[in-house]
Amino acid sequence: MARTRLYITTPIYYVNDRPHIGHCYTTGMADCLARFHRLCNGSRDSVFFLTGTDEHADKVVASAASNGMSPQEWSDRNAAEFEAAFALCKFDYDDFMRTTQARHKDKVVEYIRELQRSGDVYLGDYEGWWDGSQEEYVTATVAEEHNFCSPVTGKPLVKRTEKNYFFRLSAYAERLKAHIDANAASFILPESRRNEVLGRLRDGLGDIPVSRAVSTDAASQWGIRMPDDAGHRVYVWIDALFNYLSAVDRPDRADLWPPTVHMMAKDILWFHAVIWPCMLMALGKELPKANFVHSYWVREGVKMSKSLGNFVSIEVLKAYIHRYSLDGLRWYLFTQGPSGGTDADFSHARFVEVFNSDLANGIGNCASRVGNMFDKYFGGVIPEQVREFTAPGQPRPLSVCCTQRVHEAMQALSTCDVGGALAAGIGIIREVDQYINITAPFKLAKTVESSPSAKAELGDILYTCAEAIRIASLLLSPALIEKMPELWRAWECSPPAGVPLAQVAVFGGPCGLRPGGRVNKGEILFMRADTKEGPPVEAVAGA
Ligand code: MSP
Repeated sequence: MARTRLYITTPIYYVNDRPHIGHCYTTGMADCLARFHRLCNGSRDSVFFLTGTDEHADKVVASAASNGMSPQEWSDRNAAEFEAAFALCKFDYDDFMRTTQARHKDKVVEYIRELQRSGDVYLGDYEGWWDGSQEEYVTATVAEEHNFCSPVTGKPLVKRTEKNYFFRLSAYAERLKAHIDANAASFILPESRRNEVLGRLRDGLGDIPVSRAVSTDAASQWGIRMPDDAGHRVYVWIDALFNYLSAVDRPDRADLWPPTVHMMAKDILWFHAVIWPCMLMALGKELPKANFVHSYWVREGVKMSKSLGNFVSIEVLKAYIHRYSLDGLRWYLFTQGPSGGTDADFSHARFVEVFNSDLANGIGNCASRVGNMFDKYFGGVIPEQVREFTAPGQPRPLSVCCTQRVHEAMQALSTCDVGGALAAGIGIIREVDQYINITAPFKLAKTVESSPSAKAELGDILYTCAEAIRIASLLLSPALIEKMPELWRAWECSPPAGVPLAQVAVFGGPCGLRPGGRVNKGEILFMRADTKEGPPVEAVAGA
């Protein structure tokens, strides 16, 4: 079936605990990316965005027990917490997959059966180093390198032997390497992560266990049973990866395969870039187009962890939203987050600095200056016969700036560079600010009484500014989902449904500001933040 829609996914999150900034970040980046593509295509339906929860983990059983609930009750409760957190951040996803739903479980059994039929899943013995904190085995080399402690959490590894079903991963190593090489520019982004995977692949690939024994203890009962063998359940990671397929494995979503991009952090790259593609090859399915891998949020330079209790919690995020607006939080996360190869610090001082420079003194101040001048000198109405005005000494006409910045944003999106696309929007605002300094419309306004040509020029200048701000606002709108529509309402320039960005963003084009149209003053979009004020109270309390 011909592809008509993009398919963007996030990891599905463990429900042993409540969500925190890390989960909101990945789902937020996917939300922002999805909104950018919807904008580019001029259609909400052009993207299918999936997120959800991973519920069959042993650690879910453990935390349910310590909270006096059944694993299902505990999963229901925490899955609802994830949905509430995502609603708070206004993430606009199309489906929320829970691995305890029948629609998923039934499909997993079908997929495993198919892999058994093809001989890719078989029964054997397994002995290895089990990392209970990550629910995974690590290789003997990794165990030794890390002094027999978890490479992720530092907790001791345990030697375990079990009868297991195995997946014939070894059979796909060469094909996988060839695929990674042939798709070097897209399959694993950024490049540093691809090199990491290729480095590990040099050690070769052994077959991996895909089941766990079922015994009498509660933990071992929790999970999807292997087909025709009640003594084994599907290993949680295999169960989880299948969600990307089970969610769209139905006639009305058949055009969605393969995924356009799987978004995740570095901790789970191996599963996505190695195990999952090999499973898909075994099933004869086309491979996902891209894996976009970001780094970690840390807090005040320290890794966030349960034992330290230093997660940036949903309460902290709420407090930031309350004081600085949802858009203020989204902007900070998406532009200052760990989107590349290095971790990012969640720092209050940095939050305020970026908020003031990009939002309050950036788009907010720029739009309000132009809106106020339109109001003051033209009664908020765009005069007849306006055209772009370019001043001598200006680096380039603002229309050229806009065309190039829109192009830059689209280029950035092709590598999932959400921050780069947003920076293109702020880049326009910086050039408008520069333009206002060069053209000094407030000075020109003092001469309009005596000179009609000065009045016409003033109209042209203000129109040029407003039209450039309109185009900037389009590029900023995937992050600033409340304030940009507010600006569009004040300036009567909401992008029409069904028109792609390339047309909406044409300077002076059919969707642009028109003579006779209104540029109303509007409310102040972002109040300047007080740099001396500490973090919101709740943020300190929640630390
Ligand atoms: N359930 C598995 C994923 C299965 S996907 C088929 C899992 N769940 S998790 O709850 O541990 O989520 C891991 C993901 O949460 C990371 O890959 C990342 O997307 C996000 N983050 C968790 N902590 C994070 C940070 N400190 N910083 C940024 N993102 C982080 O692994």
